[in-house]
Amino acid sequence: MNKTSLISSFFQNNRKNLVQNLLEKSIAIINSANELNRNGDQNFAFRQNSDFFYLTGLEQEKCVLVLSPQHPDKNLKEVIFTLQPNDLMETWTGHKYTADEISEISGIKTVKWLDQFDMLVREMILSSENIYLNLNEYTKYLPELVYNDYKLVSKLKEQFPLHLYHRLAPLITSQRLVKNEEEIKLIQKACTITNSAFKRILKFLHPGVKEYEVEAEMIHEFIINGARGHAYQPIVASGKNGLVLHYTENKDECRDGDLLLMDFGAECENYAADCSRTIPVNGKFTARQKDCYNAVLRVQKKAIPLFVPGNTIDNINREVWKMMEEEMISLKLFSKHDVANQNPKKPLYSSYLMHGVAHFIGLDVHDVGNKYEKFKRGMVLTIEPGLYIREEGIGIRIENNIMVDDVPVDLTAEIPREVEEIEDLMKK
Ligand code: GLY
Ligand code: MN
Ligand code: MN
Repeated sequence: MNKTSLISSFFQNNRKNLVQNLLEKSIAIINSANELNRNGDQNFAFRQNSDFFYLTGLEQEKCVLVLSPQHPDKNLKEVIFTLQPNDLMETWTGHKYTADEISEISGIKTVKWLDQFDMLVREMILSSENIYLNLNEYTKYLPELVYNDYKLVSKLKEQFPLHLYHRLAPLITSQRLVKNEEEIKLIQKACTITNSAFKRILKFLHPGVKEYEVEAEMIHEFIINGARGHAYQPIVASGKNGLVLHYTENKDECRDGDLLLMDFGAECENYAADCSRTIPVNGKFTARQKDCYNAVLRVQKKAIPLFVPGNTIDNINREVWKMMEEEMISLKLFSKHDVANQNPKKPLYSSYLMHGVAHFIGLDVHDVGNKYEKFKRGMVLTIEPGLYIREEGIGIRIENNIMVDDVPVDLTAEIPREVEEIEDLMKK
């Protein structure tokens, strides 16, 4: 079990801001993540639910946060329910939080064991009129598995059909979107460690190396520098594998003359970096690779000043696609004339750049928030233009992490991306 460096006042503030937005006479219930069985007695690595972490700092399964801000008993305004630690459990799975530890990390004074949950929460619900529950509302989240927060909805609706039910997700989303200084520091730390891994790979890579050997260099550098690991499955894609947007097999040999596209980021205390870099396996870009690479890099540089308050991902996508279209004409992938005659429903550029070029990052690598959300200072996003030329076996993506401000701040500015700098570092 990890202990976060974020202090309890961070989580206290997050809860305070949340309850300010609840209706009168409300109760809000948020579950921790499940342990997920993999096979036999093995579980997948535990990763806390990001909302639950944001409100409590706790890194343990089988915890429930119950907020009942107008409850007449001040000890029941904020309660954590969890497993009561016992010797047998500790022998097999290690230390579980004591009540004092929970209070120290989260700032929540009242800790109860889970066997009291049904009775006590019933009482809290009966002194409320509104029940807020927390479904995962990320647009692309379509899980096959039922998660605790989801199960709770039908259970409570059956037991308490006459209460009013509300969505917690929009409230937590708008809070999580804007990062405070401590959160920015953690994202910055994740970016800095990602930079170390990239520099290590620049020295390591040569023709004949396997993609998984590059992945091993990444994870080595992440972990020795204090990151928990990858923020997401890393992409280490040489040659034509770079054309597969979500390639994660990382199994092939990196060949002389090919490019290597890597999309990778460290996770620090649950905060993600999300970086892509594309480098020549043999240390030197060919003339054509360099032209294509610099086209993407120019567009990325032109796009970074767009991360100012009031803009949206939707606008940035359209602007970047337009800029990339011009670059594609210069690279002779198609002509101006072809563009004038193209099917507007399937523009020509979309065969060479088929994805959006920005998303929010934070506690999740694709963090909460949609493409119509107006930017505010302190939001953090990726900028990731790409160019994928199937007929030439060229796949390029360059991805940096930008904090929104009047002058946007590039948290990945230290990670080399100029052709000359990359080639120089690969010579060493
Ligand atoms: N690493 C996932 C992405 O770039 O969106
Ligand atoms: Mn990304
Ligand atoms: Mn990425």
